[in-house]
Amino acid sequence: MIKHISILGSGNVAYHIARKLRAEGLIVDCVFSRNHITGQSLADGVNAVFTDELFQIPSKSDAYLFMMSDEANASIAGQINMPDDKIYIHTSGSLPKEIFKQKNAAVMYPFQTFSRDVKIDNFNEIPICIEASNADTFHEVRCLSEKISPLTYELSFEQRKILHIAGVFAANFMNHSVCLAQKLLQENNVPINILTPLLKQSFAKILAGAAYSSQTGPAVRGDRKIIDSHIDMLASDENLANVYKVLSESILKTYNK
Ligand SMILES: NC(=O)c1ccc[n+]([C@@H]2O[C@H](COP(=O)([O-])OP(=O)(O)OC[C@H]3O[C@@H](n4cnc5c(N)ncnc54)[C@H](OP(=O)(O)O)[C@@H]3O)[C@@H](O)[C@H]2O)c1
Repeated sequence: MIKHISILGSGNVAYHIARKLRAEGLIVDCVFSRNHITGQSLADGVNAVFTDELFQIPSKSDAYLFMMSDEANASIAGQINMPDDKIYIHTSGSLPKEIFKQKNAAVMYPFQTFSRDVKIDNFNEIPICIEASNADTFHEVRCLSEKISPLTYELSFEQRKILHIAGVFAANFMNHSVCLAQKLLQENNVPINILTPLLKQSFAKILAGAAYSSQTGPAVRGDRKIIDSHIDMLASDENLANVYKVLSESILKTYNK
């Protein structure tokens, strides 16, 4: 059973996952980070030793959790020189487990957005996608993951990459759309909180059923006259006009208009 862990990275995900695992009774032996400020602070918070040197990461940990940027994860996975019988885990949606050359490689991808300064009240609701190089490692990583959340999913690398893309559409693009809407309102002296009831109702509808049947607006009605007039009005902002056009065309196609 995984009891001792070392953490690599001290960013958003490392901050929350390390603290949660510590709160669940795991022992964090070491926090490795190139960033002395966030690294030392995270190490202090989980009662671990801090280092910025790879060779100082202790070999006594049962598992090493790589929670750096994707590029750093891949690069440092190739440099770390640790025993083969340990478990090597990363938390990325876009990297294969094969970044680790050791025999016990795994992925524990939390499908949630993490920011260091935003508290997570509901770890229990975070889906965690797991993949491992062998059955024993899978079992170990599943037990570790269940300390964070009971919602574990076994997903292949292909499925995980698709899930990542789905997350970009569902969360990142949606957030960006609201960001563009707020900017448009601000530039025209309309208070942005006028959007709040619309956002709440739209979200409630999505959560109550399929987004497909919740679609409203000019494009789903096939109202090309309105669409063209909106694009004309946005002509001074080429980016905004293009985004409006691309999304409208996607809706027109989806509903055969
Ligand atoms: N944030 C999310 O919502 C989320 C959700 C699920 C999965 N993930 C995955 O979790 C992993 C970490 O994401 P994050 O959001 O926590 O990233 P982050 O906040 O940007 O933190 C990245 C960490 O990696 C370090 N780092 C960056 N480049 C490095 C390098 N060349 N050498 C050594 N260390 C380096 C950073 O150090 P500095 O502070 O010095 O830059 C920082 O400690 C990624 O694989 C990401 O795909 C993120």
